[in-house]
Amino acid sequence: MAIRDIVKDGEPLLRKKSRPVDKFDGKLHALLDDMLETMRMADGVGIAAPQVGILRQAVICELAAPEGEEGEILEMINPVILKKSGKQIGTEGCLSVPGKRCEVLRPARITVRFQDRNGEEITRDFEDFNAVVASHEIDHLSGVLFYDKEVKSKK
Ligand code: CO
Repeated sequence: MAIRDIVKDGEPLLRKKSRPVDKFDGKLHALLDDMLETMRMADGVGIAAPQVGILRQAVICELAAPEGEEGEILEMINPVILKKSGKQIGTEGCLSVPGKRCEVLRPARITVRFQDRNGEEITRDFEDFNAVVASHEIDHLSGVLFYDKEVKSKK
């Protein structure tokens, strides 16, 4: 595994659309392993392939775990959001946008269909914090950054 450089906001690549993954091979596995190591090093809870300069539809999320348990690391390849419901507003940041945090509007629950690193199809529901992380990372695959969805609080 290796730590890769994180692409920072301002680089045009972050605003591009990622292409689907079509080969579930050693190269993909190495990319995912590197993404995880890079995410851990940067102390993040999610990372998308474009953040390490690869325009492919692959993300990693560290999901919230019940008290005392370790968070689950979930890899999602070619994710598609099938359903969204409810609303939540929370503070977000991003490894590619250091120093910026803001309030973002997200669905409370989402259902995502994706593939694992071997190409196996999976459908899974996410809610609360996990719905935030999953939709934040999936947004990266269409070039959307969290502050595009900033909620300006009225005073
Ligand atoms: Co991000």
